[in-house]
Amino acid sequence: MRMSHDGASHDSMSNESASYDPSSSAEVATAPWQQCAACEHRFPDTALETICSECGGLLELIHPTPTLSGSALRAAWDYHWRTHVIASDAMASGVWRFRDVVLPIAPSDLVSHPEGNTPLLFRETLAQWTNVPELLVKHEGHNPTGSFKDRGMTVAVTQACRVGAPAVICASTGNTSSSLASYAAHAGLPAYVLIPAGQVAEGKLAQTIAYGARTLLVRGDFDDCLRLVREATQQLGLYLVNSLNPFRVEGQKTIVFELLQQLHWTVPDWIVLPAGNLGNTAAFGKALRELLAWGVIDRLPRLAAIQAEGAAPFAASYDTGFTARHRVTAHTVATAIKIGDPASYDRAVRAITETNGVVITVTDDEILDAKAVIDASGVGAEPASAASVAGVRRLRQRGDIRANDRVVAVLTGHMLKDPGTIADYHIEGAHVRANPPIEIDPTIDAIAALVERV
Ligand code: F0G
Repeated sequence: MRMSHDGASHDSMSNESASYDPSSSAEVATAPWQQCAACEHRFPDTALETICSECGGLLELIHPTPTLSGSALRAAWDYHWRTHVIASDAMASGVWRFRDVVLPIAPSDLVSHPEGNTPLLFRETLAQWTNVPELLVKHEGHNPTGSFKDRGMTVAVTQACRVGAPAVICASTGNTSSSLASYAAHAGLPAYVLIPAGQVAEGKLAQTIAYGARTLLVRGDFDDCLRLVREATQQLGLYLVNSLNPFRVEGQKTIVFELLQQLHWTVPDWIVLPAGNLGNTAAFGKALRELLAWGVIDRLPRLAAIQAEGAAPFAASYDTGFTARHRVTAHTVATAIKIGDPASYDRAVRAITETNGVVITVTDDEILDAKAVIDASGVGAEPASAASVAGVRRLRQRGDIRANDRVVAVLTGHMLKDPGTIADYHIEGAHVRANPPIEIDPTIDAIAALVERV
């Protein structure tokens, strides 16, 4: 199968799409509800709870089966895509054009920048480096605050306003906090963020404080921050917006919806993503489960969750057939995924199991090499994002990814999130791909000497 550089395939099944009449019935008839994945207790979609008050389990949003299905649903979403991207209203968002199966709510009530509509890119250098000719990267770093978190946050903060939350709170390795700070500012809600002191990349800390969140630097790691946030939610009545919150998951589902839409609804063989707290892995699994059930796609891609070797409790569990849940003290240069006790473990196990997926690790050196290749291709991404491309290379070497497989790797965050790691690599380090700047005297001879060397 050949692919154009915008990622569109030439033999897609979209040609058989039905047409969509916007004056006809809505895509769904009734409201979704929240349900505990453990005890199945139900809560209305407007309940304040973000964690089951009966058993402490994780809640998920259950959508009634849409009135449209298969090609009619695809046609409806394609209609919203075409009309609203031009209109530049809240429905121009790559999250809210799927509103009826994310969170049905009036467009006037949305807290949206807008977000999403991120590019799906092909770069020859990445295809060559990974030895996967049909590799595309979905660049979520093009979101308003520079990471995929904006997709979940627009939904969670919209929901926080909807249920009258007095203030919002999260634990973060830096991207969730940046995103929350921005959306809370937009909504006029007070925001509190807990981040591990000294372990968050410079760009992220800068964003979080500049957008105006009350920023608490916890002397501990991310896992300590998350434990404290859960306690604060219960004891202080703050609204929790970590990816434990089911509305975050709903927004993050749209990464999968949108990338499939960009591929004209043809299903790639693999979707590869970095994995830390496992909210995104869980969201991808839910998106695929729903799309298959509603007849939007007719087969599933395999999910590959990539962890950094020093922060790989999920990979350890996968290696034992998910018979035991592992927890570790995490270490990695990719601070975004430096997480030892991922909160969405159960949901992510389901996502990997249902998609015949895999979980593997890559070393910090592999992450940094992949990042240098992504950056030098002109695309750029933060270290955690590079884990997905390093993972593609590893999976191709192992033979899991075959030569002709079509693969989408998700780049989760922007290159400028973590300038410190770039400086360490290119200026301090002795890496083969290092490109240190050269200080010169202010003379043309100094320049000529260097140009001649090229
Ligand atoms: N990539 C980036 C850039 C991230 O910021 C994160 C998570 C992940 C991947 C992993 O996603 O946690 O859903 O498995 N960052 C969180 C944060 C933890 O606080 O910003 P996950």
